[in-house]
This record gives sequence, C-alpha cells and structure tokens, in this order.
Amino acid sequence: MLSTLAPASSPPVVAAPAPLLQVRDLRVHFHTREGVVRAVDGVDYHVNPAETLGIVGESGSGKTVSSLATLRLVPPPARMAGGQILFEGQDLLAKKPAEMAALRGRRIAMIFQNPATSLNPIYSIGAQLGEILMWHEKASRAEADARVVELLGLVGISDPGARLRQFPHELSGGMKQRVGIARALLCNPSLVLADEPTTALDVTIQAQILELLADLQKRFRMSMVLVTHDMGVVARMASRITVMYAGRVCESADAATIFNAPRHPYTRALLESMPRIDHSYTGAARRPLPTIAGRPPNLLNPPPGCRFHDRCPEAAPECRRLLPLETPVGPGHTVSCLKRGSEGIAA
Ligand SMILES: Nc1ncnc2c1ncn2[C@@H]1O[C@H](COP(=O)(O)OP(=O)(O)OP(=O)(O)O)[C@@H](O)[C@H]1O
Ligand SMILES: [Mg+2]
Repeated sequence: MLSTLAPASSPPVVAAPAPLLQVRDLRVHFHTREGVVRAVDGVDYHVNPAETLGIVGESGSGKTVSSLATLRLVPPPARMAGGQILFEGQDLLAKKPAEMAALRGRRIAMIFQNPATSLNPIYSIGAQLGEILMWHEKASRAEADARVVELLGLVGISDPGARLRQFPHELSGGMKQRVGIARALLCNPSLVLADEPTTALDVTIQAQILELLADLQKRFRMSMVLVTHDMGVVARMASRITVMYAGRVCESADAATIFNAPRHPYTRALLESMPRIDHSYTGAARRPLPTIAGRPPNLLNPPPGCRFHDRCPEAAPECRRLLPLETPVGPGHTVSCLKRGSEGIAA
C-alpha cells in the first residue's frame, strides 16, 4: 500500500514509562543441514505501555521470527540462542511451557498475516473463539458466546449472533481478518503482536482494517507491535519505529524522527525507495524511484562487519570488519552504524 503520510512533528517529551516488553540481545538460530542460519542475531527493542511499535525491514530481515520468539513459538529447526524477552519485567525465555501457554492469547495475543489459514476451517467461529475463553477464563459456553458476540460486534461484523454458527469459508477475507482481531482481543491482552495483518487483503480493505486496529489500540490502551515491510503503514500507525536489516536492528526512534531525520544509511535508503506525492516521478523532473541495489546477505554464515556494508553508499573499510553496536544519538534514538559514532566489535 502506498502512503505518504509522515508524522509532522515529534511527540512532546514525557518521562519514559517502564517498558511493557523489552527484548534484549535476542538470538534465534536455525540449525539446518547447510549450517546455522542466524535469522535473529542480537536484537534489542522495547514496547511501552499503550503504544504501537512498528517493526519494519525487507523480507527476510527477521521481523516474524523475532515476534514469534516473544510467544516462544519459533518453529523447528529454530533454537533460541540467547537473550532476554522481558514482559512486565519477567523473562519469558525462563518460563515453563505451562506458564507460557497460560500467557499466550490471554496477556499477549497475535494477529496473523493470513486470516484464511490462521482460522481453523473445521470449527465454527463461535466454537473456536469461545474455546479460548473457556480455557483461559473458565467461562461457561453461554458466557463465552456472549463475549464472542460482543467482540464480533466491536470489530464491525454485522449480525454477530448469526456468525457464531458460521465457518471461516463463509466469510470474506476482510471479515476473516476482523474475526482474527476479535480473537486476539477476547481476553483483553495488554500486548498484541500483529504480523503483516493486512498484506493478504486488497487495498481498500487494508485501510479499513488498519483504521480498526488503530481505533482499538487507543480505546483499550493496548500495546501493539506492528510488523510490516510497508513504511506507509508504520507512518499511519506507529508512535515508534524499529528498523531491522538481516537479523539485526539498524535504528530505533519515534516515528517523526525516523521519517524526518533518519540517521542510518539503510533507513534513508528505505525511505527514498518509498513513493511520495511531493516528488515527481512522471513530470518534468522524471526522477525514477530509487531502489536499494544488491541483496541482503545470506544469513547462513553472514559476512563479518556491518550486515549492510556491501549495499551501503557510505561504507568505509572498517564497516567490512567491525559489527556496529546500538548507540544513542538523540532522545530515544539509537543507531547501529560506525559512520554515526557506533562502537564496533570484531564479529
Ligand atoms: N524454517 C527455516 N529454516 C531456515 N531458515 C529460516 C527458516 N525460517 C526463517 N528462516 C530464516 O530467518 C530469516 C528471517 O525470517 P523472517 O520470516 O523473520 O523474515 P521477515 O522479516 O518476517 O520477512 P518477510 O517480510 O518476508 O515476512 C530468513 O531470512 C531466513 O533466512
Ligand atoms: Mg514475516
């Protein structure tokens, strides 16, 4: 989806609240026959109460794997190779499987990319959503049905009582995603992870679903992690943005700073490759839309140094040797780039 809405100004500076979610030095590696794929390799980010954090980056940068790791749902052959995931101050990586199961869907919920595959085709909407309440909240069937009807109405589904008995195949793509959102909100979670929640939908439906998500996030003061490769979507939705590249974080800041004063060469390239209505691509200027030349590195034995060095217009010899560490460059603004003053380690 194309959007040109960059936030106009930084939000007022207020005392930083304790983060609801804090991911520290997260490492998730896939042990394949070819070797170890370092899909997520030392990632840090945090989500404050009642805010939307946008995680952006090219395909394969590790956005999905790092959000699945939050719920300890990374598929085999992935292994958690290190780090901490602190939710309300407690490390989720140290929790027992039963403790995680009690948390999933109740305190932390997920909205998946493809509603067609994330809903179970053989159960009615009422049965599969109600089961969550019966399991987590020990609700009776009648209580569960009443709550499901309330949530279906809240996400804009008409005649919600009749939908209880319908099956996923009887609903349109947009309706299925509304059901996916209702399912995520059933137990009033404090954190919702939304991984590309609109990319499987057509453009007009995408806009409606994003509006619905933004409205619900504000209304319930939930925290949300919105994973997307679309800068237009984060511009509309996120108060802060973390930019990922090849399994690491390049830059994090509030949305206005990312759009108006990006520091990392990759963030700049990402923004330049985004269509804007204040640039002419077809008029007298006829400037072609820039692309980022080259491809992300293979995460099976990635090259040493900065992961972006061979595509970076500013790369210096040390960028090929030293891995830049995340460094503060302004209030709430961090960058991992030797050319912006980051410390580098041999790796
Ligand atoms: N089953 C797997 N086996 C081996 N490597 C995997 C597997 N699944 C993911 N990976 C690796 O993890 C990396 C990150 O994948 P991830 O799905 O998190 O990317 P993403 O940023 O969500 O991309 P997209 O925008 O396409 O959804 C990929 O580049 C890939 O190398
Ligand atoms: Mg993904």
